[in-house]
Amino acid sequence: MRVFQLSQRHQVQQTPQTSSLASFYSMWDAVARFAKEIRASEFMSDMIRRRDAYGSDGVMGALDCATLYGLTRWLRPMVLVESGGFIGMSSAFILKALVDEKLANAKLYSIELSQDCEQGALIPEELRSSGGFVPMRGRIEDFLKGDQLPASIDMFLHDSSHSYQHMLWEFRQFWPRLRDGGLLVSHDVQMNAAFPEFVTNTYALEKKTGRRDFERTSHYEWGRWGYIGFAIKKVGR
Ligand SMILES: C[S@@+](CC[C@H](N)C(=O)[O-])C[C@H]1O[C@@H](n2cnc3c(N)ncnc32)[C@H](O)[C@@H]1O
Repeated sequence: MRVFQLSQRHQVQQTPQTSSLASFYSMWDAVARFAKEIRASEFMSDMIRRRDAYGSDGVMGALDCATLYGLTRWLRPMVLVESGGFIGMSSAFILKALVDEKLANAKLYSIELSQDCEQGALIPEELRSSGGFVPMRGRIEDFLKGDQLPASIDMFLHDSSHSYQHMLWEFRQFWPRLRDGGLLVSHDVQMNAAFPEFVTNTYALEKKTGRRDFERTSHYEWGRWGYIGFAIKKVGR
């Protein structure tokens, strides 16, 4: 199954638009399968125990963590940035997906503004010390201004301030950094119109028919699952 998915992803570079779309459409089944697997796992039970012992205020819920895990496993990213790392519920599921895909050199840059929280406290020690977790303390705005983040990334997760302005600002900042086929993921897309508005603006329509103009549309696929939204970047050729 893995080989099948990888070869399909490679095809995206050269094949006609219909098969590109078909290969991305198949991601839904893969993500659902990975999410189901982690939902039933000992890792999930352990994370829920940790979260309940620490206090669950402000952390990503179990269903969304499973979706995030599935998306990460499907993409197999090497360079990831997350905003709003906090005590690390989302980080733990990303790191677990990287380990399960045996991506030993992958890096998660996890940005957290608050000086008070114990950043990454929920992440199991073996994942935290695996070398993939790169905690960064400060405002995401300042890290971008200081050019302290990778210029090219495979996956971005928004989970910081959920104001309309800030969400849209982060999407617009990180979308250009995503490579072709890279993934923008947002938590709490139900909070305001930022995510649907952003996705709407990636569509280009044919004047005559009002149908999607594949060439000029800048995503391959997008969707929403629970409170998670995602969009797969398509670079124009
Ligand atoms: C909803 S919590 C994140 C939960 C975390 N992803 C988890 O699952 O454990 C949001 C966090 O974003 C942080 N935050 C808000 N604005 C930020 C900014 N501009 N830059 C970096 N972090 C920010 C807050 O301090 C808060 O800890």
